[in-house]
Amino acid sequence: MQQHLSHDARNFRPSAIRAFAKYINDPNVIGFAGGSPSAETFPAERVAEIAARVVREHKTVALQYGPTAGLPRLRELVAGVCRARGIECAAEDVILTTGSQQALDLVAHTLLDPGDVVLVELPSYIGGLSSFYARSAEMRGVAQDDGGIVVESLAEAARRFRPKALYAIPNFQNPSGRLMAQARRDEVLRLAEEHDFVVIEDDPYGELVYADGADTTPIAARPDGTKRTIYLGTFSKVLAPGLRCGWIVAPKPLLGPLEIAKQAADLCSGMLDQSIVDEFCAGDELAPQIERVRAFYRGKRATMLAALEEHFGDRATWTPADGGLFAWLTMNDAALDTAARIDRAVAAGVVYVPGAPFFVDGSGRNTMRLTFAKEPDERIRDGVARLAQVFA
Ligand SMILES: Cc1ncc(COP(=O)(O)O)c(C=O)c1O
Repeated sequence: MQQHLSHDARNFRPSAIRAFAKYINDPNVIGFAGGSPSAETFPAERVAEIAARVVREHKTVALQYGPTAGLPRLRELVAGVCRARGIECAAEDVILTTGSQQALDLVAHTLLDPGDVVLVELPSYIGGLSSFYARSAEMRGVAQDDGGIVVESLAEAARRFRPKALYAIPNFQNPSGRLMAQARRDEVLRLAEEHDFVVIEDDPYGELVYADGADTTPIAARPDGTKRTIYLGTFSKVLAPGLRCGWIVAPKPLLGPLEIAKQAADLCSGMLDQSIVDEFCAGDELAPQIERVRAFYRGKRATMLAALEEHFGDRATWTPADGGLFAWLTMNDAALDTAARIDRAVAAGVVYVPGAPFFVDGSGRNTMRLTFAKEPDERIRDGVARLAQVFA
């Protein structure tokens, strides 16, 4: 059947980090590899109550097909969430999606022809890269430092490759945990204007802030930002990813094509999921939920950073993880390959994600991603100590 595969299917790339899934629920292995939020943050009782109520009282909505662009009141509520982040938009500018992963796929389908260039951060989110590979796009890397995208690198890449889009995760990026400086966001938008590319701004972590003064104002919130920026959000990290509920705020000319792409993909996102999220948000439960989630991760993040200081202080540098779910470690020894130590780490009872698969240019072999989301404090300390032995 190989000969029947489409051109795009030949370019599908399996996620290099799925290989670690088998360790994620192994109690014998301290898990720094997963990218999932902690189930302890899910408001399960409230979701159960709301679910029972909407199924009983609103079955003609919650169990029925719905509009492709999403439940009208939830579109309104999401527009409110975006306006609170500084983005000028109304309900009709919002398309609700089956997680922001679907948003990435729809955007890729709608914008990209085979061979089109997408600029991506070095490193970048593998799920985003998969969506672009699946449309046979070409990816080119843009350097990052601790202030996010390096503007000179973006300018150079824009000149050289004439990209159709830039894919950026400015707030506490997956995988690096970095926060892009606000001044650089202005430069990103300026370069997008100058070189006529679209900015795909993916913002799942902007609400997960642990450090005072971290400014997470999106690129789309700049004056005229929504003319060039496709802004993606999600309830996955603040509520629960099993409620597959994300969104797109797009420039007006793109809304129609995106909605038609979604019609072909799934007619509409799950109406039960949307109904639950809608009731939760309409009851003003989102803001206190976000506060609880922040408090939950803040302590774990501090534990991990302290353990890294103790065990890796002279051997590596890491990002401050002022928000999000990840610390990103770069070993001082540039020749060290973190992927080559993974078996040793698992044997020592700890697992992480080697950094190289997040880099489209084949670099980053001496890096790794560590999540502090999953383990209790004691196991975070123990896990970092074990990791230090593996890299001794
Ligand atoms: C940067 C980024 N974008 C998108 C997603 C997809 O999230 P979801 O589809 O659950 O909204 C993730 C999930 O980890 C992510 O880290």
